[in-house]
Amino acid sequence: MVIALFGPPGSGKGTQAKALVKHLRIPQLSTGDMLRESIKQGTPLGVKAKGFMDKGDLVPDSLMIDLIKDRITGPDCKNGFMLDGFPRTVAQAEALDQMFLQSGLKMESVLSFQVNKLELVDRLSGRLVCTNCGASYHEKTKMTQMPNICDICQGPVVKRDDDKSEVVEARLTTFKESTAPVEEFYRSKGVLKEINAEGSEQEVFQRILAAIGRGAK
Ligand code: AP5
Repeated sequence: MVIALFGPPGSGKGTQAKALVKHLRIPQLSTGDMLRESIKQGTPLGVKAKGFMDKGDLVPDSLMIDLIKDRITGPDCKNGFMLDGFPRTVAQAEALDQMFLQSGLKMESVLSFQVNKLELVDRLSGRLVCTNCGASYHEKTKMTQMPNICDICQGPVVKRDDDKSEVVEARLTTFKESTAPVEEFYRSKGVLKEINAEGSEQEVFQRILAAIGRGAK
C-alpha cells in the first residue's frame, strides 16, 4: 500500500501521518523531516537544502528524487509506505512513477488536505515542535503540559525556523505556484481523494479512514 498526503503547509499532513502509520503499520516518509535531520547532522544535503528551506522555496527536484529513491528501497518499505510532503512538483510525481515501474508498487491514494488560508496561517504561526521526537504542538490550541517540554519524550519544544510569518507567506505562494499542479496529475489518474482537513484531529482522521476504506481496527 502506498499512500501520499498532499496539501499546503500547515494542513495537518505530519499530524495525520503519525496517527495513520500506527494504524496502518507502514513507515512514514516525511521529506521535510529527512531534510531537517540532514541539516541537524550537517550533511552535504542538509547544507544545500537549508538555504532553500529558510526562504520558503522548494529544494531542487534532483536532490529530492535521489533522497526518496534511496529511502523507498529500504527493507521496511517493501510492503508499502506513507509519503508526507512528496511529490511536491509534477517532475517529482513523474519520477516516482518511474520508480514504481521498477519496484512493482503503485500509488493507491493521494489524500489532498483542504484547509482555508486563515486557518493555515494560524496553525503555522502558533506551531511548536519537539526537536527530539517531532511531535507537533500549538501555542494556543495544543499546549504542552510543561512549558516548552514535550509531553511524549520530554525533549525541547521550539518554533520551526520556517514558521516565521514572512517565510510562511513564501511557502504558501510556493505551494500555489509549484505544488498545486500535482493535484491535477493524480486526479487524472483517478487516485486523488479530497479530504476536508478542518475540524478536530480526530474528525480529520476518521474522514481519512473512510476515504481509504479502512475502518477503525
Ligand atoms: P515540510 O516539513 O514538509 O513542511 P510543509 O509541507 O510546509 O508542511 P508542514 O510540516 O508545515 O505542515 P503539515 O501539513 O505537516 O502540518 P502539521 O501536521 O505540522 O517541508 C519543509 C520544507 O522542506 C519545504 O518548505 C521545502 O523547502 C522542503 N521540502 C520538503 N519536501 C520537499 C519536496 N518534496 N520537494 C522540495 N522541497 C521539499 O500541523 C501544523 C499545525 O497545525 C500544528 O501546530 C498542529 O498541531 C496543528 N494542527 C494539525 N491538525 C490540526 C487540526 N485538525 N486542527 C487544528 N490544528 C491542527
